[in-house]
Amino acid sequence: MTQPDSPDTLQRQLAEQRYIADDTVATVAFLAIAMRRPLLIEGPAGVGKTELARQLAAACELPLIRLQCYEGLDESKALYEWAYARQLLYIQLLKEKVDALTDGATGLREAIEALARHEDAFFSERFLLHRPLLQALQTPEGAVLLIDEVDKSDPEFEAFLLEFLADFAVTIPELGTVRAATPPVVVLTSNDQRDLSDALKRRCLYLYIDYPAPELEESIIAARVPEAGESLRREAMAFIREVRALDLRKPPGISESIDWVRSLGALKLETLAGPRLRYTLSALLKHHGDLRRAIDALTPAP
Ligand SMILES: Nc1ncnc2c1ncn2[C@@H]1O[C@H](COP(=O)(O)OP(=O)(O)O)[C@@H](O)[C@H]1O
Ligand SMILES: [Mg+2]
Repeated sequence: MTQPDSPDTLQRQLAEQRYIADDTVATVAFLAIAMRRPLLIEGPAGVGKTELARQLAAACELPLIRLQCYEGLDESKALYEWAYARQLLYIQLLKEKVDALTDGATGLREAIEALARHEDAFFSERFLLHRPLLQALQTPEGAVLLIDEVDKSDPEFEAFLLEFLADFAVTIPELGTVRAATPPVVVLTSNDQRDLSDALKRRCLYLYIDYPAPELEESIIAARVPEAGESLRREAMAFIREVRALDLRKPPGISESIDWVRSLGALKLETLAGPRLRYTLSALLKHHGDLRRAIDALTPAP
């Protein structure tokens, strides 16, 4: 791992990877790495939360391990589970061996006891499915652990996460305790779909990423869509600001503005003044009502 020595260094490293971080983002992310505190990033969809975790991993030269959260996510999918199907398959293929083990047994109880003496062969690393949280503990050089969209998981899972983040250790009854050799850099993201617990927030450093300020977004577009000329870029940014000011169900995030400016390039448009503009808005707005509102309010009739 290479640890950035200051927020400025981190900011520069991120920029080299074409991720443009403002001073707040660079400083808070730097602190999370330096202090090894989990970083909780909240904000609307498409403002660069997930991408920041990815780029932090690249900047620190650490592998990125991602846990995507969803409703119903539990420890077996997040941490580990036994490879039940594989265990059964092995038992079937090795039927003769299993028979031999229980051969001398006279009753059921005795047969079970005979087999139980070999239980550790079935509950060994070979039959363990390592899910992301366990992987993050077992990466010797450390890792960036991205727990993405944690607000989609259930409160019970959040409580479990809190324990995990406190110890960076996990006890597997059959195998013992696995402790992180190097604690991972943890990034949690949330789209604000529900409030996270105060306990989880207390454990984390908190970063809110909002829709970007105009100058920041311009730098992002310049980095991500360098083929768009400066004047088109300016015009496009002003237009996006007008779109975001409309009363929309889902205002465009950065990913949408990048896509949209790319689509302008694909159509070889050099200015926004033209009848085709309205068709390009499909890259920017993903709800029928939003699209209609923006077309009515902001584009010339074809
Ligand atoms: N600050 C930024 N610098 C460069 N690209 C960015 C930035 N923020 C967002 N992006 C772009 O927007 C896309 C969407 O970001 P993402 O991380 O998926 O959003 P979120 O996780 O907040 O929903 C990314 O693929 C990235 O290309
Ligand atoms: Mg995301």
